[in-house]
Amino acid sequence: MKEKWSYSESVESSEIVNLESKYGHFIDGAFVSPKSKKYFETLSPSTEEVLSKVSFGGKADVDYAVNAAKEGFKTWKKVKPVDRSKYLFKIARLIQERSREFAVLESMDGGKPIKESRDVDLPQVAANFFYFAGWADKIELSWGNNNLKPYGVAGQIIPWNFPLLMLAWKVAPALATGNSVVLKPAETTPLTALLFSEICVEAGLPPGVFNLVTGNGETGSYLVNHDDVNKIAFTGSTNVGKQIQSSLAGTEKGLTLELGGKAANIVYEDAAIDQAVEGVVNGIFFNQGHVCCAGSRLLVQESIEDEFIAKLERRMQQLRVGNPLDKNTDIGAINSKQQLEKITDLVHSGVNEGGTIFQTECELPGNGFWFKPTLFTKVQPAYRIAREEIFGPVLTTISFRTPEEAVEIANNTEYGLSAGIWSEKGSKILWTADKLDAGVVWSNTFNKFDPASPFGGYKESGFGREGGRHGLLSYLKESR
Ligand code: NAI
Ligand code: MG
Repeated sequence: MKEKWSYSESVESSEIVNLESKYGHFIDGAFVSPKSKKYFETLSPSTEEVLSKVSFGGKADVDYAVNAAKEGFKTWKKVKPVDRSKYLFKIARLIQERSREFAVLESMDGGKPIKESRDVDLPQVAANFFYFAGWADKIELSWGNNNLKPYGVAGQIIPWNFPLLMLAWKVAPALATGNSVVLKPAETTPLTALLFSEICVEAGLPPGVFNLVTGNGETGSYLVNHDDVNKIAFTGSTNVGKQIQSSLAGTEKGLTLELGGKAANIVYEDAAIDQAVEGVVNGIFFNQGHVCCAGSRLLVQESIEDEFIAKLERRMQQLRVGNPLDKNTDIGAINSKQQLEKITDLVHSGVNEGGTIFQTECELPGNGFWFKPTLFTKVQPAYRIAREEIFGPVLTTISFRTPEEAVEIANNTEYGLSAGIWSEKGSKILWTADKLDAGVVWSNTFNKFDPASPFGGYKESGFGREGGRHGLLSYLKESR
């Protein structure tokens, strides 16, 4: 049906954001020019406009940052836990005060809809700092007899899908437990981490406690291999995660890896269908599908398959794709040209292997990187689209007949990060959840996060947990 009324946008102003023409690294409490003397551009993926230039971190830059963090650790470990807590509370409050600025900048630099950066990312970022601030002075009490100590310098490497939220997941527990940090944000989304550095200055955080080096994979590998880094926390692709694990083998460095996923979202015939449709849409189209725990494989019971798919397609047609700063946008820009190419390639493979493709009729903007919400049906478990992480707005559907078959298909993957179950029967949900090899299982909901709830995977999705008490333990080691 053609739309009766023309659509008028409601665009969030970007005036609140003050961009510099270029940025240094943030080391030892100040912004510093790169020793590499090199800069690279960061774009807005929705317009392809260059937003700013950021420093490239070469070996000398990483050395400088790690040295600063080593000194920073000496200062930070002398700060009483209750005072560490105060700094983190201050950071949390400052983030809340400037949350609109952060949200707009996140949407500009990374392409995610403002609705999500404003209502999901930023509240979660602040919540993580508040949560871990509360822990800082309770760690000794909780694990008193184990004599747990911070590692020292934590090297943290984060991806581009939730730039500031991944910073919060990593920085908040590291600082709460008394570690100092060198953070390396992803090359396409460094700007909110740079703004966060300003917050650290405002909060009076002692120099060297939080350091930031911008750059690419090369920069990341200098950090991973630096002798004075005591712990590495990485979120990103499985391939890079494996490389990091092998370079750390035989060293005493701590390591946590949060890698990819290929989550099954299982819809049983007794599910509340309309709710399940909403949940499945949220599960895959949230953040353009750039989500490690995305519900990217829909497993639907054969008896309701036709009805479910018809409703799902109708719902998908309503998704509004476009300007990330428009408050009505549901699906923003694909984060980079590279990621768009990867999605396009996988979708072609799905068509060539015999999947039936449905894409919504939306119009895509001329500039920028975009992909239509896509649904595949008649997918065989052996297809690439059923096995590989697409990390885009693409859902694949496989039908099943019995709960046993659903579990078998769901677990038939190299990953094990998350899963979803839709059913009105509590016993069936518990039976299924118990058999799924996944770090997080949601039932009758999806993509729900809470700083108190540990998150992490099995198999090729990585190891170690972030969030909750478990997340703290990732930054503490038993002292000998
Ligand atoms: P990536 O793993 O290359 O990048 C993630 C971070 O690691 C970035 O900060 C990057 O600069 C850094 N990095 C890259 N190579 C490194 C190295 N050798 N040593 C240390 N750090 C290194 O991921 P990429 O290429 O951006 O995305 C490729 C695919 O990975 C995506 O299509 C998606 O399937 C998956 N991915 C999964 C994420 C997750 O949250 N689990 C996040 C980002 C990507
Ligand atoms: Mg960018």
